[in-house]
Amino acid sequence: MFQIGSNTFDRAVFLAPMEAVTERPFRRQCRKFGADMVYTEFVSAEALIRNAAKSHDKIFLAEDEHPVGIQIYGNREEALVEATQLSERMGPDLIDINFGCPVKKVACKGQGAGSGLLRYPDLLVDLTRAVVQATSLPVTVKTRLGWDDRSIIIVDLARRLEDLGVAALTLHARTRCQMFKGNADWDWIAKVKEAVSIPVIGNGDVTAPEDVLRMFDHTGCDAVMIGRGAIGNPWIFTRAQALLSGRPDPGPPQFEDRARLYLDLLAENIEMKGERRAVLEMRKHVSGYLRGMPNISWLRGRLMQETDQAGVEGAVRDYLERLADPKFAGLREHMSVS
Ligand SMILES: Cc1cc2nc3c(=O)[nH]c(=O)nc-3n(C[C@H](O)[C@H](O)[C@H](O)COP(=O)(O)O)c2cc1C
Repeated sequence: MFQIGSNTFDRAVFLAPMEAVTERPFRRQCRKFGADMVYTEFVSAEALIRNAAKSHDKIFLAEDEHPVGIQIYGNREEALVEATQLSERMGPDLIDINFGCPVKKVACKGQGAGSGLLRYPDLLVDLTRAVVQATSLPVTVKTRLGWDDRSIIIVDLARRLEDLGVAALTLHARTRCQMFKGNADWDWIAKVKEAVSIPVIGNGDVTAPEDVLRMFDHTGCDAVMIGRGAIGNPWIFTRAQALLSGRPDPGPPQFEDRARLYLDLLAENIEMKGERRAVLEMRKHVSGYLRGMPNISWLRGRLMQETDQAGVEGAVRDYLERLADPKFAGLREHMSVS
């Protein structure tokens, strides 16, 4: 059992922050499927304090998605402090600081933000201290091993962050220079867990429900965070939770249920960002929600062309009717393939 602020967890499974993916509707769906905590996508502190409407939308939270963390990034103390205070007003359970983003425009601009700050650990520590002092909420940090394999600083950094009052540390067990290549090195998660007594959240390459158990066993971490493995696949949390409590893996939902979940997600996205944008952006979820279904290229092709909600709903309806047609008998028995 471990505690972050007022929330108590036990061998928890969290949804990773992911830009343009962990928006409110998807976060809510993952919570319903058993994610113990979810995070917003990262939000630029500078954009937040400039009052950019888009950034404010990103930190607007629904009542039923708690526990939820707001993730911010930046490299200027005043901006991070002000962004922390703005975020606190949205009522999150914690503020998470991103020191892990490897993309050039974030990590390499000026002194860099995100993982760029792994080259300036003193600044990283000072910025974190300022955020911790600016809020009464728990502050957590999400980071990587170091800038490259010659500068892995995570064990020392984790101790310094613990000393200044960080409430938990998430470690994506790659260096910045690895980006998303190679394998995450889970041994480092185990080393960090041994070095500190704050909760350690392990992250990197958990793509199947069994990987959650493997990561707990391999690292002794307190929670496992799932990123890419949850895209188009929110039921990975239900499946992992079943395994964690010693029950059999229930497998993915039946196709009709997956289609309904896809349409529900679309409807909530439309409410949030308007019909056209939501329909186009939902295309990134298509492959995941429909993975393994019979004759699916037909439906995928149509969903990639539709530009409004009625079109998407019609395409799904047509597909289900085709499956129900006796001509397609035999296809249905494959319907729960993952
Ligand atoms: C599309 C995408 C967007 C991401 N956006 C963020 C982000 O906003 N904040 C963050 O801390 N990490 C972000 N990440 C990194 C993930 O949170 C996670 O650390 C990484 O994908 C490794 O975990 P995984 O192997 O389970 O995917 C992103 C990853 C992906 C694939």
